[in-house]
Amino acid sequence: MNSSPPGLVTESSDLFQADPMAFLLSQHAQHGEVFAMELDGTPTVIFGGERGPAVLFRAERNHLAVHNTPLVHELFGRAVFNLVGEHHRRARRPLRQAVTGRPLREMTPAVAALVARHVARWSELGVFDLHEATRALTLDVCARLILGLPPGCDDDQQFPGLFAAFVAAAEADCAVRDSDPVYQRGLAAAGELRAMIGRRVAAVDGTPGRDVVSHLVGAGEVSPSDVGDHLLAVMIAARETTASLLTWMLIEIAQDPDNAQTAAGEIHTAGHLDSAAVHAVLWETERRHSPNMLSRRAVTADLATPYGVIPHGWHAAYSPAANHLLPDLFDDPGRFRPARFAGQAGARRAGGLLTFGQGAHACPGKPFAELLAVTVMTALGAHRLTLAGPPPEQVRYLPVKIPACPVRAVLRPRSRP
Ligand code: HEM
Repeated sequence: MNSSPPGLVTESSDLFQADPMAFLLSQHAQHGEVFAMELDGTPTVIFGGERGPAVLFRAERNHLAVHNTPLVHELFGRAVFNLVGEHHRRARRPLRQAVTGRPLREMTPAVAALVARHVARWSELGVFDLHEATRALTLDVCARLILGLPPGCDDDQQFPGLFAAFVAAAEADCAVRDSDPVYQRGLAAAGELRAMIGRRVAAVDGTPGRDVVSHLVGAGEVSPSDVGDHLLAVMIAARETTASLLTWMLIEIAQDPDNAQTAAGEIHTAGHLDSAAVHAVLWETERRHSPNMLSRRAVTADLATPYGVIPHGWHAAYSPAANHLLPDLFDDPGRFRPARFAGQAGARRAGGLLTFGQGAHACPGKPFAELLAVTVMTALGAHRLTLAGPPPEQVRYLPVKIPACPVRAVLRPRSRP
């Protein structure tokens, strides 16, 4: 086995920041599935291609820790992604249980009602911006389905402003945060959001309801003082990623009425959750438009890999978005073609996607996000979505993949045959 680490690609940090997708794809083309680059001053090994990510995921428990800045630790406290080892495992289990399986099934009618309200509003708006619309939807998901805030109550009215301030703080510059008013406002907002969550916890009467907070508290495994940290983490992990995926799914549906038509037809005949066409559209969106560009780990002990030994102190990372566009893994990877996920082979193939990560830190909210996406497609079945302008040409990738300009669309009732 090679004992030296992969050689560093030069001048990488700036080029990565300027166009992360173009940079990662060009480096994979030159150096193969695994290479090292300088990122924010730290040598970082990118594990890509067919075998690279699995090497990283196998090393999670003993050699890697999620790379979070002191700012993230300060803002999120004992949230699941700040924990390691047994603490992480113990925090993750009840969280995962609160957003999957029976709790998710019990929340399904509330998901459908919420999505139906938003889709009805889109159809009344005339021309509307798709990304703004999906962000409004996922903010409502946080307020109604995660926190269970009753519409119009005092906390509900405060929530959007507090959450926006909190998110702005999470994106602040860690090095100057003590003198940054945006960060200080966000830190105060985090305190108010924790107090709000505390009031929701106190209102849960032991009967799990139609929201994540009641399922998390009802299971009785999380201390009330940690619930705030966990739910802040869940909301920040859920809001922009899900809005990103929904936006690109809608852009693709609007551009290819045949996909939408097939999916809509199956929704009405087979019931949406079992529809193969719907899943093919969903999985192809997850492949072609993975919201996350890079997930990073700190290497906590020298790590021997088939690509060389990665020293303690370096970073390791994988890129869902770039990996899914490698021509070695997918034919004509830039083309949106749901048929590549058709049938049982398609379902197996979708299991290998990195959109929601894999391994110890894999996204516990995947079924929740997929339920939302499928529910949106279901609600669209009776409509026809079209773009009111050209599809977006400029894309921003950090922190998640979004169109750089508004994407105007129109939603009209589908005319009957
Ligand atoms: C399309 C939507 C979503 C995408 C693309 C996504 C993607 C991801 C990815 C890639 C990771 C792993 C990051 C890593 O390896 O470091 C992750 C972790 C996480 N996600 Fe999601 N996510 C989505 C929606 C959600 C939702 C809806 C929830 C909650 C309801 C959620 C909660 C979390 C949490 C708590 C973690 C941290 C898990 C841990 O550290 O053990 N995510 N997500």
